[in-house]
Amino acid sequence: MAERRTLNVDEVLERQESGDLKRRLRGRDLVGMGVGIIIGTGIFTLAGVEAKTHAGPAVTLSFVLGAVVAGLAALCYAELASSIPTAGSAYTYAFATLGEVFAWIIGWDLLLEFALGAAVVSRGWSGYLATLLGLSPEWFGEDATVNIGAVLIIAVLTVVAVLGIKESAWLTNLLVCVKVAVCVLVLAVGLFFVRSANLTPFIPPAKAAEAGSTVLEQPVVQAALGLEQSVYGIAGMITAAAVVFFAYTGFEALANLGEETLNPRKDLRVGILGALGVCALLYIGVSIVLTGMIPFTDIDTGAPLADAFDRVGQHWVGALISLGAVTGLTSVMMVELVTIGRIGFAMGRDGLLPKALGTAHPRWGTPHRMTVGGAVLIAVLAAFIPISELADMVSIGALSAMIIVAVAVPVLRRRRPDLDRPFRVPFSPVVPVVAALACLYLMVNLNVLTWIRFAVWLVIGLVIYFAYGRRHSRFAPPVSPSKTD
Ligand code: ALA
Repeated sequence: MAERRTLNVDEVLERQESGDLKRRLRGRDLVGMGVGIIIGTGIFTLAGVEAKTHAGPAVTLSFVLGAVVAGLAALCYAELASSIPTAGSAYTYAFATLGEVFAWIIGWDLLLEFALGAAVVSRGWSGYLATLLGLSPEWFGEDATVNIGAVLIIAVLTVVAVLGIKESAWLTNLLVCVKVAVCVLVLAVGLFFVRSANLTPFIPPAKAAEAGSTVLEQPVVQAALGLEQSVYGIAGMITAAAVVFFAYTGFEALANLGEETLNPRKDLRVGILGALGVCALLYIGVSIVLTGMIPFTDIDTGAPLADAFDRVGQHWVGALISLGAVTGLTSVMMVELVTIGRIGFAMGRDGLLPKALGTAHPRWGTPHRMTVGGAVLIAVLAAFIPISELADMVSIGALSAMIIVAVAVPVLRRRRPDLDRPFRVPFSPVVPVVAALACLYLMVNLNVLTWIRFAVWLVIGLVIYFAYGRRHSRFAPPVSPSKTD
């Protein structure tokens, strides 16, 4: 029988005490970094797209549903992050509870989430910058042969990410102030233009999807049950919730900063729950204002918020929204780069990725090799491939990691009841089980094509694991002349 490969929790705790990453972050840095990675394309673009195509004004309910699911998952992250602070987050929790192969799958899945997220966002950033400064779409737009804008921004942020975690947090906080101010401005000015007629009916009646949509674009649950494709109504609202869940992804990245937080036992849960709470309130407010300002059928899917203000004659707000989007997207990429560095660092430390990636820079105390390696991959993807439509891959990656984290909570409670838990999910195992089922429910509402792409990514991951990770893992039996793996 194959040997059991699980990490010992005490060893993980010991390792984070003596790790070579530098502990420099406080609670407010974490809330800033959380808001920094959470608010991005989701609210600036997807809210409008989903209101128009799937939910109508009920997109606000989609955001509420997304917040509930993300909130349940965040409670589970808060318990594990505060009791086992580590750079690996979900990857390490899986390693300590379910075993190495699950840990690899989650680590691989998180690398997909954050690398693809950064690539998608860098292209969006490039497009917004081009609009704001009137730059050539030949180098900055979706049709660029080589998207120079995307590559440049990734290169600059990589330098900051390598120089230090405090420097990264400082830049993120600055950018966050600008984007939160823009969201508050949208709420404050937009409220004056909300018309109740635009919000009635709040849930538009369901109707058949337009001819021409293929089964690949259908939510997997509808395809599996052989249902006819439809939009709007309750089902449309739920489909939109699965898509706009993207807007909430990112709070999990804070759990990767456990080895760099001054007081992880308290600050990690403050950061995770605080950042998510702030963003949920802003999202729900902004989506009501957007759908209240103009009829949802008139929403522009390219730049929904800015266009809505143009239509009501408030052109100055439109320009500020573009500025908010550019700064907002910059902080998303900043934190994504930081996170990739930590996940790869943790995987390298356990031997599942090359061990050189699992060491920190002696002076800057950052996982410089993984950060630079990840950035090169992101820049290549972003330079050449129009990947904007891959946002759903980020959601499916985040949701599957959340399921594993939710399962890990009761497993660890049973296995290590004595572990000191500064924060406990209430009513465990009921809340973690509901969290896992809620994430699964949103996953099955993502489309068939997303599932196929995700499955391909996991198969590639498993091939790499059996060809490399399993043999080089810290748990791999030493190679002897008489016995080979
Ligand atoms: N949550 C981030 C966004 O909305 C990824 O862009």
